[in-house]
Amino acid sequence: MDSSSTPRVLIAYESMFGATRQVAEAISDGVRGSAEADCRDVRRVSPFELHRFDLIVVGAPTHARSLPTPASRAEAATWVEGRMYGAQLEDRALTPGLREWIDRTALSGLKITPFTTRVDMSRLLSGSALPAIARRLRRAGAQVGRRGYEALVDEHGQLCDGEVDRAREWGGILGRSLQHEARV
Ligand SMILES: Cc1cc2nc3c(=O)[nH]c(=O)nc-3n(C[C@H](O)[C@H](O)[C@H](O)COP(=O)(O)O)c2cc1C
Repeated sequence: MDSSSTPRVLIAYESMFGATRQVAEAISDGVRGSAEADCRDVRRVSPFELHRFDLIVVGAPTHARSLPTPASRAEAATWVEGRMYGAQLEDRALTPGLREWIDRTALSGLKITPFTTRVDMSRLLSGSALPAIARRLRRAGAQVGRRGYEALVDEHGQLCDGEVDRAREWGGILGRSLQHEARV
């Protein structure tokens, strides 16, 4: 990173019902206090632009203790149809998401930090997509240095109280640490 320039962060997400998108937007708001932030659905991120960013943050919901698959996305759609969960599906929810994006993108040397959303219960019971995202990123050559981030949803898939503020604070920490690195 050029010491005179403002650090740039890309926040790329997959979301079925909107919670992971809201977390991504809150992280971006936090980053913006000290760095530039670009927040987008991962399906709208081209591999050719990645080198422009000092840090990339990627996130997806936890499905079956891991990353969403075509089958789990289809199951999510039935949850909406059955009015069990979530109000409506996000745009592009049923198209290939973060799992497929990582697998087809050259990530060698890029600094990437993962996040996920999962149900608010013991992590032993809920599982988390975080280790699966980190493992896939490393396999694709990314530098996964920082600890990832988990945000919690309730039994209806809504973000729990305080989660937007907490995600904004985490984004603030990321932005400030990049700004600090740029100065030293
Ligand atoms: C098919 C399916 C499987 C899920 N499996 C898990 C799970 O294993 N652990 C968990 O904590 N949450 C699980 N969830 C809940 C999701 O984590 C939750 O819906 C998601 O975090 C909401 O984010 P979104 O609105 O961005 O999709 C599952 C949801 C779906 C639709």
